[in-house]
Amino acid sequence: MKLVGLFTALAAALLCTESAAISILMGNDDGFGSAQLREFYRLLKADGHEVLVVAPVDNQSGQGGRSVFTASRNLTTASEFNLVPAGSPSLGRDPTDPDIWYYNGTPAACTFVALDFVLPRYYGNRTIDLYVGGPNYGTNLGGFLYTLSGTMGGTYAAIGRDIPGIAFSGGNSEQRSYTWINATTASGSPDPATIHAELSFKLVKQLIDGTPTGQRLLPLGYGINVNTPFITSFTNDSCVDPPFVQTRFTGGSFTDIAVYNETTGLFKYGNFIAEGVNRCINGDCSLPGELPVVDDSCSGSVSVFTIDYDAPLGPEQGGVRAALSPLVHFESRDRMSVKARNGLSKEDLEASRPLRHE
Ligand SMILES: *[C@@H]1O[C@H](CO)[C@@H](O)[C@H](O)[C@H]1NC(C)=O
Ligand SMILES: *[C@@H]1O[C@H](CO)[C@@H](O)[C@H](O)[C@H]1NC(C)=O
Ligand SMILES: *[C@@H]1O[C@H](CO)[C@@H](O)[C@H](O)[C@H]1NC(C)=O
Ligand SMILES: *[C@@H]1O[C@H](CO)[C@@H](O)[C@H](O)[C@H]1NC(C)=O
Ligand SMILES: *[C@@H]1O[C@H](CO)[C@@H](O)[C@H](O)[C@H]1NC(C)=O
Ligand SMILES: *[C@@H]1O[C@H](CO)[C@@H](O)[C@H](O)[C@H]1NC(C)=O
Repeated sequence: MKLVGLFTALAAALLCTESAAISILMGNDDGFGSAQLREFYRLLKADGHEVLVVAPVDNQSGQGGRSVFTASRNLTTASEFNLVPAGSPSLGRDPTDPDIWYYNGTPAACTFVALDFVLPRYYGNRTIDLYVGGPNYGTNLGGFLYTLSGTMGGTYAAIGRDIPGIAFSGGNSEQRSYTWINATTASGSPDPATIHAELSFKLVKQLIDGTPTGQRLLPLGYGINVNTPFITSFTNDSCVDPPFVQTRFTGGSFTDIAVYNETTGLFKYGNFIAEGVNRCINGDCSLPGELPVVDDSCSGSVSVFTIDYDAPLGPEQGGVRAALSPLVHFESRDRMSVKARNGLSKEDLEASRPLRHE
């Protein structure tokens, strides 16, 4: 009997290490009330992870990596979906869940407020193992969206601060509150918001299970961009359980064109497939691009990226450098002493501000 008890305990312990609980920071650009974000949060918490949300107080779609902090101590208008009234502090907790925070700033600003204020002051400076953004309402496919999407911006802000990050985006673009998640659908499958969250959860779980315990979930400076296709559960079951496919950023993806309206004298954007935004320069060129996989078949795309924008070594970079010399000198890294910002005093930081590129 004792032996069986020990065996059960061992098995339980093994199971525990298998689904290791991690510490997760969540954000998005649709705001802290988003149905997709809340469904994802619910699933991660139910799996035993420590989860903190710091997300914009309202829709910050399209802000990319801009870091904009409010100049007002209090909210001048009510939050999205009226979850928090006007006059509330610009940074605060959701009235129904103390681990869900809103902030009146861009997604990247929310990441920084989480890391530099909320975590140290309210969570004992807890270490974060993984940042997850989204799932966003609407896909973010290709390199042009990498710098445009606030969900991606909040994610690469975290990656830049040493944290493994994954941006999730889904093909259903109706921005809904978590208070509106349909219990039943025509297909019998869950609400699309729930399905996008389940798919995102499955990917996080696979990454945790596929990574040796104690090892970083992604190498330093690496991130993942995940897109899930339009989920049809509201009408039928033609796309309710998409498989994931390994992809790359470039290939069939859009940039913008400016579309002029002669009557109004105004421009709006149009989607345009250009060669520049779709050239394979880095990574595995044999992989399919994100957009054809997600828009043309019921599949999810998974691209691995880094935050290093440097061009690869080779004749092309060499040619550009040769054209610029001798105006632009070659200096080895060792000869140029770069002060680590870490070591800078407050005065130094103040003095170095003009160097910052906005
Ligand atoms: C959120 O902001 C984006 C970009 O400004 C806009 O296209 C979208 O319609 C907004 N969504 C809502 C629900 O207001
Ligand atoms: C603004 O926020 C502060 C601190 O949260 C609060 O004490 C004050 O009452 C608020 N002011 C207004 C005008 O709502
Ligand atoms: C929080 O932890 C980080 C390292 O993980 C450290 O650099 C920072 O100084 C700590 N902040 C506080 C307020 O303890
Ligand atoms: C299923 O629903 C989607 C819209 O959600 C529609 O575009 C598609 O044509 C439908 N497919 C079938 C087989 O009815
Ligand atoms: C979802 O629920 C809302 C109200 O809760 C209802 O108005 C809407 O028609 C439902 N949509 C679907 C597709 O079931
Ligand atoms: C230009 O704008 C007017 C007014 O909004 C609209 O009626 C018209 O359809 C637009 N034209 C085009 C070509 O989109």
